[in-house]
Parts: sequence; C-alpha cells; structure tokens
Amino acid sequence: MTRRRKIYEGKAKILYEGPEPGTLIQYFKDDATAFNAQKKGTISGKGVINNRVSEHVFSRLAHIGIPTHFIRRLNMREQLIRQVEIVPIEVIVRNVAAGTLSKRLGIEEGTPLPHTLLEYCYKDDSLGDPLVAEEHIACFGWASQEEMQDISSMAIRINDFMCGMFAAIGIRLIDFKLEFGRLYDGDFSRIILADEISPDGCRLWDIETGEKLDKDRFRRDLGGEAEAYQEVARRLGLMPEEGEGAVLDMVTHRLRKGK
Ligand code: C5P
Repeated sequence: MTRRRKIYEGKAKILYEGPEPGTLIQYFKDDATAFNAQKKGTISGKGVINNRVSEHVFSRLAHIGIPTHFIRRLNMREQLIRQVEIVPIEVIVRNVAAGTLSKRLGIEEGTPLPHTLLEYCYKDDSLGDPLVAEEHIACFGWASQEEMQDISSMAIRINDFMCGMFAAIGIRLIDFKLEFGRLYDGDFSRIILADEISPDGCRLWDIETGEKLDKDRFRRDLGGEAEAYQEVARRLGLMPEEGEGAVLDMVTHRLRKGK
C-alpha cells in the first residue's frame, strides 16, 4: 500500500496530497478542541458527520454560484478538494449575540442583532486568533481590498442561504465561521470558499426549544455532543449510502450506548 504524503495536520482535519496536481484530500478526525486547544477531547463519529454535512452545504452553495474548494466526497471521512492558499483570516458571521461577542460587549446570549455582523480574526494559534479590523487586514496585506469585497459579499450570501436552509429544518443559525482561499490560475488568483461548514464551526439552536446542536455542547460540558451532531445530519436528510449503513449504524449504536 502506498503511503500518502501528509501536507498539514490541524486540530480537526488532516490534509494529504491529492491524486492530481492542484488537489488535496481532506480527512475529518473525531478530535475536538476548544479555547485555542486548551480543552481537548473526541466526539465519537464527528468526522463522519462533518464530512457529510460539509459536502451537503458546499454542494448546495455551489448551486447558488458560490465557488468552493469541494470537488467530491471520497469515502466516510475524506473528500477531494482543490488546493488553495488560505487567506489568514477567519470570517465570523453573526445573526444573534453569543459566545465571544456576548462576553466582549456584555450583550446577553440570544439577543437578535439588528443586522448581520461580520467579524474578522487573524489566523494565528500562537496569538489565539485575535479579532482584527479591516484596516489591520489592509495594513498588513493579509488580503487585498478587492479580495475583502469578494469575501464579505460571499459571506453575506452564504449566511442568507444557510439561514433559510437551517430554518427549514427547525434550526436557528446563530453564528458561524468561514475560511476562504486563493485559487491560482497562473499569476491570477480568485477567492473561493475553503475549509468546512459543519456543527464544529456553527452555533445551531433548535428553533422551538433553544437546545444547542453544535460544539458548544463540548465547549461548555453540556454532554450529548455526538447526538447533537447526529441530529443536525438527520434533519438535513443525510442518510447513509449503501455499504456505509453498517458504519453509520455502528456510530449510532455507540452513541446510544454513550460510548
Ligand atoms: O467563539 P466565538 O463566539 O467567537 O465564535 C463564533 C462562531 O465562530 C461560532 O459558531 C464558533 O463555532 C465559530 N468559530 C470557529 N473557529 C474559531 C472561532 C470561532 O469555528 N477559531
């Protein structure tokens, strides 16, 4: 068996060299981290679910004209993606106050925002991904003005689409994180959506009960994180394909047994 070359290992994913130049394989782990990796654990079956959920969301975004790095899902934990140069900015899209916004500004969690708020964090683990202004991004050349225009308009369109998609399955989209990359064609590059969209990087609350269906269950020691991820996948109608049923059944069985 040939060993694939590992390009990068992050907290929740591994990137391997792809089968053709310009492609990578994105592998989804069950590892979970929070608070800049100060808290570590695993969420059983998370990688399988995030691979599926991200495939679903990215495919639907492509249908509305959002360019993404996603090419196709390869198996339970892997997807083929286009290789990009990641823009070192995390884009946080907020509809309702929660998390660090609530803490920073003293706004009660659950307060609807008068309009969608975009925040930017500089991607640097050693600095704890600090919040930055667009002026910092321009000043230090992390992205050009034109790139930021593409990024912000895509983020708003993605949010509009995702709010509707989740509302249709009884989920309120509170906030989420996006990452973008530069896809090169010779000397030219264009911005496309990269990374993943899954319950790891979104706050998702049940519309009726307000129950949290995302990584806050892990961050805040609420328990039932694996079941919450499963519930999101179930509501999105992501049923296993033939041949994979056994593995997803096993994941479900383990979850029921609390393993
Ligand atoms: O922690 P905070 O309130 O700033 O997070 C806002 C949103 O961005 C949450 O949905 C969180 O899951 C996501 N996020 C992320 N990765 C980070 C920071 C935030 O997925 N490094």
